[in-house]
Amino acid sequence: MHRWNALFSTIGIVSFPIVFLAIRVGTARARGAEVPPIRYLSEQKLWILETQRTTYVMGINEQGELQHFYWGRKLARDEDLAAVHSRPEHASFDSPETMTSLEYPGWGGRQYNEPCLKVTRADGVRDLVLKYASHEIRGATLDVYVKDIMVDVFVKLSYRVFPHSDLIRKEAEIQNRTQQAVTVESAQSGVWHMPSGDGYRLSYLTGRWAGETQLVREPIHQGKKVLESRRGNTSHQLNPWFAIDEQGQADEEHGRVWFGALAWSGNWKLTVEQTPARQVRVVGGYNDFDFAYLLKPGEALTTPAFDAGFTDGGFGAASRLLHRFERQEILPERSRGRLRPVLYNSWEATTFNVTEEGQKALADKAAKIGIELFVMDDGWFGERQDDRAGLGDWYVNPKKFPRGLKPLIEHVNRLGMDFGLWVEPEMVNPHSALYRQHPDWVMNFPGRPRSEARHQLVLNMAREDVKEHIFSVLDRLLAENEIRFLKWDMNRHFSEPGWPELPADEQKKIWVKYVRNVYEVIDRLRAKYPALEIESCSGGGGRVDLGILQRVEQVWTSDNTEAFDRLRIQEGFTFAYAPKVMMDWVTDVPNLNGRSTPLKFRFLVALQGSLGIGSNLHHWSPADFELATEMIAYYKRIRRTVQEGKLYRLLSPREASITANQYVSEDGKQSVLFAFLHSQQFLYPAPTLYLRGLDDKAVYRVKALDDRLLEKQETLSGSYLMNHGLNISLRGDFDATSVLLEKVDQAMPAGTSAPGLDAVARHSGNRPGTLECPGREFGTHCALAGELEGRAVGNGVGEAGGH
Ligand code: GLA
Repeated sequence: MHRWNALFSTIGIVSFPIVFLAIRVGTARARGAEVPPIRYLSEQKLWILETQRTTYVMGINEQGELQHFYWGRKLARDEDLAAVHSRPEHASFDSPETMTSLEYPGWGGRQYNEPCLKVTRADGVRDLVLKYASHEIRGATLDVYVKDIMVDVFVKLSYRVFPHSDLIRKEAEIQNRTQQAVTVESAQSGVWHMPSGDGYRLSYLTGRWAGETQLVREPIHQGKKVLESRRGNTSHQLNPWFAIDEQGQADEEHGRVWFGALAWSGNWKLTVEQTPARQVRVVGGYNDFDFAYLLKPGEALTTPAFDAGFTDGGFGAASRLLHRFERQEILPERSRGRLRPVLYNSWEATTFNVTEEGQKALADKAAKIGIELFVMDDGWFGERQDDRAGLGDWYVNPKKFPRGLKPLIEHVNRLGMDFGLWVEPEMVNPHSALYRQHPDWVMNFPGRPRSEARHQLVLNMAREDVKEHIFSVLDRLLAENEIRFLKWDMNRHFSEPGWPELPADEQKKIWVKYVRNVYEVIDRLRAKYPALEIESCSGGGGRVDLGILQRVEQVWTSDNTEAFDRLRIQEGFTFAYAPKVMMDWVTDVPNLNGRSTPLKFRFLVALQGSLGIGSNLHHWSPADFELATEMIAYYKRIRRTVQEGKLYRLLSPREASITANQYVSEDGKQSVLFAFLHSQQFLYPAPTLYLRGLDDKAVYRVKALDDRLLEKQETLSGSYLMNHGLNISLRGDFDATSVLLEKVDQAMPAGTSAPGLDAVARHSGNRPGTLECPGREFGTHCALAGELEGRAVGNGVGEAGGH
């Protein structure tokens, strides 16, 4: 018996114990006991998928189709749920298939909505009607098999519940169990249905190079809105994330929001559709543009995972659920809970002009300000003098590093920092030894032009030999050098994506195989070098998605490091992705847009994610070094809260001239507020900042970074901070501040004071509640700042490991 058929017949038996399960659940609920996250009600033919705060229900209708029923806030009683029934035809033009919210519609019969699966069989038949075959529940995972009504095209629909993050994952495996080839022309991971109705609004992330992750909002009307990439990787232009709310009813703190993200770093597509039956649905998976995936008999194709969730706590809660999910379920296991180091990157300082001596000189200065990871960027390999040559030749340039990389790495290590290196493995310059030797290794259509971008071509990573070559080159580099970190770049998109070595009907597999092979190389390197950490970069934030995040520690957010633009880019980024993975550098001015912002402003912007420095340290004044040292020490004190905590976006740079963000640590003991003024106008005061996520009854020690905080109380209660709020005075252009709140151990009755803190304030000669030293903004010599330095060490990366 074929292995799938064997599995199918075993699965048939599972429904028997499930009947008992349903009965047990009712009683368990009544007793307040824990119930399984996935249950099947055999009488109603319904599956109930539960997270901590949400319920998802679907069932088998009278036609044998899988039909969606409910996705929203947790329902209290299984007894309320009735069997699902398909909706009748509205007219001969509005078929039941179109009217009914199907879980995974094939393109067949009278299906006119965006389908989840479209195939052409070897005999030319293109009709596919999927009905329930069997299912299996294993803890938090449900596999439902659906099958075509006539032939053995099966789809295994996998659902996985993540109870703590309120997320559910959908994934599909298309199995060709027929005796003939089947070409898959559209393979989607699944569809998410909103409750029936009108008036929904879509939020999504768009942009371009140096302007990524800009939040856009628009009403959803009848028809389709397609978000996609046709570029071979995730793209700067659109990101595979969506959020849907009922127009005007959700904001940062309130309202129902359905949101999701696709885990794929290649051509992806999200189709947001409002059907004529007033149903809003989001279909997501591989982009079907130029897609054809031939499945020989016995072969299967798996779609990317499509993770989605629901909250009634607004966009802020939606982001926090995603952040937590990414930190706890998506990021590589060994990185979960580990804090990101403060890094230095040489790119903006030295571009391609890297040498052993030059990098050592930068490293000396970087070590002094508290850098923990020193990364040498582009320019160290092959004949790389600029972007015209060298990609593909991953040997150390003998003129720039006559003794190899070892002396530099040892120097960096002696200074107490880890060493990281930039690579762009998927690319080749025509001006390289690799290209001269293997011109056939790039993706191409024979006899057609090969379009260059940044003077480079894309290696066809889908090919086994190319993939193995890239693995062995990187393997050698890592084996021979103490490299703890790779910045893995990809500086152009696909063009002429031909794979001439394959038969014509298989060449389009390149879109899928390429990405899978990139994933495979990274996974193998990580397995072989367990200490290796990776940053995903594609000319900035061109490869940021849940697929790559399963195999890297962080992403390069944008090549645009101009601090004011960054507020927008970073805000959009946090709608979908955790601050921990968001690399933010402090760089020199004037920057992009010709704008110059003060160093303090640049630091505070960068402190809101994973901190890096990209400045030319040779250009810094002693005052710059002093400020940087203090800011980095401050960051080390707050970084667990920023990286692992909860983010509250208080004021948006899209809407106000003041941006404010607040982070609260997971244990609730620390909170940090950042506020930025863009440009003061008409002497208007800054709005009151109402803090969030604090303990109403707790008392917090208030430490202002400078004199911008108008509240001078040394301690304040959560109730005051959240209801009265804090007032700040920011002046001029690009002024910024930060306030640190630390929970005082014992909640104190109103009217009492904290003697310990008074003492510290007297000792430092400061006003209570400020870190400021007389005549200076933020001084190392004052007692509080000294204390701050001391604590910073204790909150460092090393200590964080294993949490
Ligand atoms: C890309 C990256 C930059 C830098 C350069 C090097 O543009 O985004 O950070 O690494 O490549 O060429």
